[in-house]
Amino acid sequence: MFIPLLNKPVDTLRPAGSAISPSDWSILSNHWYPVAIARELLDAPLAVTLLDVDLVLFRGTDGSASAAIDACPHRHVRLSIGKVVDGQIVCPFHGLHFNQDGRCTYVPALGPRNNLPPSYKVRTFEVRERYGLLWTCIGEQPLEDVPLLPLIAKVPADELDYLAPEIWPVSAARQVENFIDIAHLPYVHAATLGGDQAAPIKPGRIEQQPDGVLMRANYVETNHGIRHCAYTYRVVLPFAIEFKVEVEGDADFMLESCDLPSPISAHQCKVFQILRYGGSREERAAMCGGLAMVNREDMVVLGAMRIPDLPLDQHHEIHLPVDNISNAYRGRLRDLGLGR
Ligand code: FES
Ligand SMILES: [Fe+2]
Repeated sequence: MFIPLLNKPVDTLRPAGSAISPSDWSILSNHWYPVAIARELLDAPLAVTLLDVDLVLFRGTDGSASAAIDACPHRHVRLSIGKVVDGQIVCPFHGLHFNQDGRCTYVPALGPRNNLPPSYKVRTFEVRERYGLLWTCIGEQPLEDVPLLPLIAKVPADELDYLAPEIWPVSAARQVENFIDIAHLPYVHAATLGGDQAAPIKPGRIEQQPDGVLMRANYVETNHGIRHCAYTYRVVLPFAIEFKVEVEGDADFMLESCDLPSPISAHQCKVFQILRYGGSREERAAMCGGLAMVNREDMVVLGAMRIPDLPLDQHHEIHLPVDNISNAYRGRLRDLGLGR
């Protein structure tokens, strides 16, 4: 009913109820994550959640995007149910205006005056537009930039397809691990990719890189004829993947993609996927539809995981030789200081 008198307002951004530990939260919060497809942020504010922090995205008059805490500092109404007027976010309750720096510029109940105190502000965060997505970082010491993804960085926008982002019932780290796990393909994706469930799967070849881990692996898909595929996965820490498929004997085949799970909370992520597929408009649409089905197959299994957190101590699970990529990934997450 009441916030007790003794409770002074806390200044930390991490919500007290977050299931992400304070130490992991402070490390993860310094990275940049995608929060929206850029073209989907138009004139209206957009609510998103990152690391349990509710944010509102809006565009200024110059078209640049900003993020602010999605709570008006006056009476804590969500700013995302307000509107954007002249590049400022306007609270629907008493009409306070906040600019892209978070400063309150107008209080209708005070009439026209411009000497509002500096405490009249909402906390804001920089937003960068990259690869057709909006990225933000809410940490105290933001990393220099969003992850470098050369596979899509220089591709003209009209050659890229964006799957509708979906919320997965699992941590971003588990989503990454699922994407790079080749042993699940003949089981979970029997109906889409196919494969021989009884055939041994050779562990991929792993290369450590400054910003992550690269793995090359072979897989035989069986549902579109027999396709001998070479898969290349490049995991960029903490939660981004570049993925490329080459098909033996088919030099024209081109599928390159990025899988970018954005951590909503400890146990949910919003997955952005960008695709570059060589083909007609119809073939590209069919490929997007096929990958959406693959995602749905994954979500069923991941939703049934009894521990949605990713263990960083190897003793919690048993491991197969083909899990070498996930073990390398876990090692790199430990190196970041996570899981302490
Ligand atoms: S609650 Fe936002 S203006 Fe009063
Ligand atoms: Fe999968």
